[in-house]
Amino acid sequence: MKFRILTLFPEQFIGFMETSIIGKAVEKNVIAIDTIQIRDYSKDKHRKVDDYPFGGGAGMVMAVQPLRDALKSIERVQNSRVIYMSPRGATLNHEKVVELAKLDELILVCGHYEGVDQRFIDAYVDEELSIGDYVLTGGELAAMVVIDSVSRMIDSVLNNNTSAEEESFAMDLLEYPQYTRPSEIDGAVVPEILMSGNHGEIAKWRYEQSILITKTRRPDLFEKYKNKPHEKSVLKLLKKYL
Ligand code: ADE
Repeated sequence: MKFRILTLFPEQFIGFMETSIIGKAVEKNVIAIDTIQIRDYSKDKHRKVDDYPFGGGAGMVMAVQPLRDALKSIERVQNSRVIYMSPRGATLNHEKVVELAKLDELILVCGHYEGVDQRFIDAYVDEELSIGDYVLTGGELAAMVVIDSVSRMIDSVLNNNTSAEEESFAMDLLEYPQYTRPSEIDGAVVPEILMSGNHGEIAKWRYEQSILITKTRRPDLFEKYKNKPHEKSVLKLLKKYL
């Protein structure tokens, strides 16, 4: 998967793309992350990328020309999509992450100031995407959220055996609590069952914890989970919580 980021602040991505799981995925060439400095494509003698909004109002608007030319500088692969990070877009969720992970190239456009000239969006953007109902100072953090969540869906990015598809939001259940050594610290102990070695009972306990946490914290998710088809054994456990 190739991620291309159109941004005025490529330096924001350095730590992100060199560290931890994303850093390893880049090193292994499972993903590629390229930043493109929009300002490099400005034809203005002062390398300006923005201008005052027609109609007046506070702030500046990113102009079409540098964005268009930065985008056109990319040698696109097939199965590619241009996404503008914006609070006006549909909110990112697990289903969208899975959908995006099937593409070969994601071009993420990061806006700043009061936004981007609508004509750039109309002509070149396939989709607008938000990461939540709040406004960031720019699209860069949002783009990193997209890259991080989409990358985890790609086989061989996560270095454990559990597929990302078996996790929390894929299952519509939140994660059960986890514990590690020591078995007691500051008077707080690990639930007995986890040290029993009885894997069947442990799986059952974890499942019930997931149900309880989801039901209390995210009744909306629990409702969705309840209405999915379940195996008989699961249904028996689930019934206790309906
Ligand atoms: N840019 C500014 N705020 C944003 C948000 N919530 N999601 C995506 N991009 C943004």
